[in-house]
Amino acid sequence: MTEMLKIVDLHAEAGEREILKGVNLTVKEGETAVLFGPNGSGKSTLLATIMGYSTCKVTQGEILFKGQDITEMTVDERAKLGIGMMMQRPPNIFGVRLGDLIKATSENGEAILGEAPNFKMQNFLDREINVGFSGGEIKRSELLQLTAQKPEFILLDEPESGVDLENIDLIGNKVRDLLYDQRKGCGGNIQRHVSSLVITHTGQILDYIGADCAYVMKEGRIRCSGRPMDLLKEIKENGYGECGACQIIEL
Ligand SMILES: Nc1ncnc2c1ncn2[C@@H]1O[C@H](COP(=O)(O)OP(=O)(O)OP(=O)(O)O)[C@@H](O)[C@H]1O
Ligand SMILES: [Mg+2]
Repeated sequence: MTEMLKIVDLHAEAGEREILKGVNLTVKEGETAVLFGPNGSGKSTLLATIMGYSTCKVTQGEILFKGQDITEMTVDERAKLGIGMMMQRPPNIFGVRLGDLIKATSENGEAILGEAPNFKMQNFLDREINVGFSGGEIKRSELLQLTAQKPEFILLDEPESGVDLENIDLIGNKVRDLLYDQRKGCGGNIQRHVSSLVITHTGQILDYIGADCAYVMKEGRIRCSGRPMDLLKEIKENGYGECGACQIIEL
């Protein structure tokens, strides 16, 4: 399997504080990797740094996407290469209507607007992005935007957090649709070409996506990896202290 994302000894600052302190991580083509970790450990900072947000400054190390060094690239250059992100707390974008953004993002232009009802977003297309949206509405809006963009590599920052139980089904199914390519491979099996790195605290999203591997981040470094459900069970039972489900310590 080809390496889609390779992060080597990544150090990054936010607000002039070093948050990422030497992250090493590889995600292969078609792989879904899960990132667990306590509040404030640097998970969102890692995703924001991969996406290239200006709030995060890389001071050491590199980020490779399909073998290409993207460490110095701008957000839009990374998006054009096929990286997309669902943020934990996206900003309000005053003056830009959701419908206009998704039309501009999608290769299908107007046709993408027809997808809005499937995300219960048909009444939001004329509204300014995220302005006055509830927590759950923001998540559905973010997913609709990703569906318009169709990225090859998807960064999901707590996609299910704050979503009511009924809408978790919608979010989970739409995330699964994004990750599974419908092209049939040899023997008629559905192939998965899209890769992702998914942050979750509750693990609810894992009921919808077949995650391949999981990592735990603590204090700006990935401390261990293991099978997603094993690590989740371990964290639920014992918290983030000693981790009995780890296969690798100190990546
Ligand atoms: N611009 C900034 N200025 C100062 N500190 C920052 C800035 N951005 C992030 N931090 C700090 O970096 C640390 C990591 O934040 P981050 O949002 O990456 O955590 P997280 O692992 O995603 O946590 P959570 O699970 O609560 O979402 C936090 O202590 C946060 O306050
Ligand atoms: Mg976070």
